[in-house]
Amino acid sequence: MKRILVTGGAGFIGSHTIVELQTAGYEVVVVDNLCNSSPIALERVKQITGQPVAFYQVDIRDRKGLEQVLEAHPCDACIHFAGLKAVGESVEKPWEYYENNIAGTLVLLDVLREKKCKNIIFSSSATVYGDPAEIPITEKCPKGQCTNPYGWTKSMLEQVMMDMQHADKEWNIVLLRYFNPIGAHPSGTIGENPNGIPNNLMPYVTQVAIGRRPELGVFGNDYDTADGTGVRDYIHVVDLARGHVAALKAIDRGCGLAIYNLGTGHGYSVLDVVKAFEKVNGVKVPYAIKPRRAGDIATCYSDPTKAERELGWKAEYGIEEMCRDSWNWQRKNPNGFEKQETRG
Ligand code: NAD
Ligand code: UD1
Repeated sequence: MKRILVTGGAGFIGSHTIVELQTAGYEVVVVDNLCNSSPIALERVKQITGQPVAFYQVDIRDRKGLEQVLEAHPCDACIHFAGLKAVGESVEKPWEYYENNIAGTLVLLDVLREKKCKNIIFSSSATVYGDPAEIPITEKCPKGQCTNPYGWTKSMLEQVMMDMQHADKEWNIVLLRYFNPIGAHPSGTIGENPNGIPNNLMPYVTQVAIGRRPELGVFGNDYDTADGTGVRDYIHVVDLARGHVAALKAIDRGCGLAIYNLGTGHGYSVLDVVKAFEKVNGVKVPYAIKPRRAGDIATCYSDPTKAERELGWKAEYGIEEMCRDSWNWQRKNPNGFEKQETRG
């Protein structure tokens, strides 16, 4: 297998995955409508790997556009990152989320099968487990009730792809359930670039550390956890990216349908993250305890052993590297990609 179609490749996880794909010898073709990303990310990828990235500003809902890309560059597999991902926004704009994520993926799947590229890796999320029935979470844990439309788009799309693979065994489909990706490429040239006020913990922490926001709100300290704050399985985005390269090998072996958790298996509380960040980077992160955030659960971390056993993949970086690389990216790019040129 050689050429990979990457949807949403200009985004946070996509850009890091392209670096790992190119490093592993794959050729990459990217489609992204840039609704939540900058083309500068792809220029930076090129700087890191020294290899060109074929990029098309195409929306995955645009059937003709996708067909043209695949006619110009027949691909062996698709890694499908494209989608809207802001939980709060999905509650405000459910139709837009269902239309973009579900209708978009249906068009993509149809074009892929028409073009005889029946191999796909899908970005799913631990959110499909809802309030998990077991901790650590294995892939056998039943899916749960999602608390927002974003989560439902992931859960529903998993079902769509499982049903398609059941009906047509030519498909190889890998559903990757990500835990909490943070960190950035160690070069500090690509990273997460949230629009507006960050919803997720690490981007908020880095923006407080750099002085863009006065303090972090810690959402609840009365959970049933060691220090009362929420516990999550943070995973370095470079490890996560490498998980996709490992999943391609499963596709090469003709895996049929396969589901993997991508996490480290370690849970860290909000205050663990704050302390690790302060220690590793020598900066202060002022915080204040706030009420719980609606829809949050106390504890969520993976059992990642299936991916290790079957894919030979396991996360290598720990919380220190995650904090170091998130801060390195934030310091070098205080305003994300946009203001780069003016900063010299
Ligand atoms: P991101 O927003 O940085 O990247 C998504 C990319 O998809 C963006 O570049 C955006 O412009 C593009 N896109 C959105 N809709 C599109 C469309 N209709 N057509 C073409 N391009 C479109 O997000 P990310 O953090 O890199 O996440 C990548 C994938 O992983 C998403 O599907 C997300 O839901 C999933 N995921 C992310 C996390 C996380 O914490 N970041 C966790 C679990 C799952
Ligand atoms: C959130 C989404 C989840 C999505 C995931 C992707 C919700 C309810 N869930 O998960 O669907 O797949 O992001 O990354 O939004 N926290 C604070 N202060 C903050 C931000 C977060 O205390 O300013 C806490 C949260 O309460 C939680 C932890 O930090 O305990 C991690 O939060 P976050 O980064 O938003 O991730 P999740 O809630 O796990």
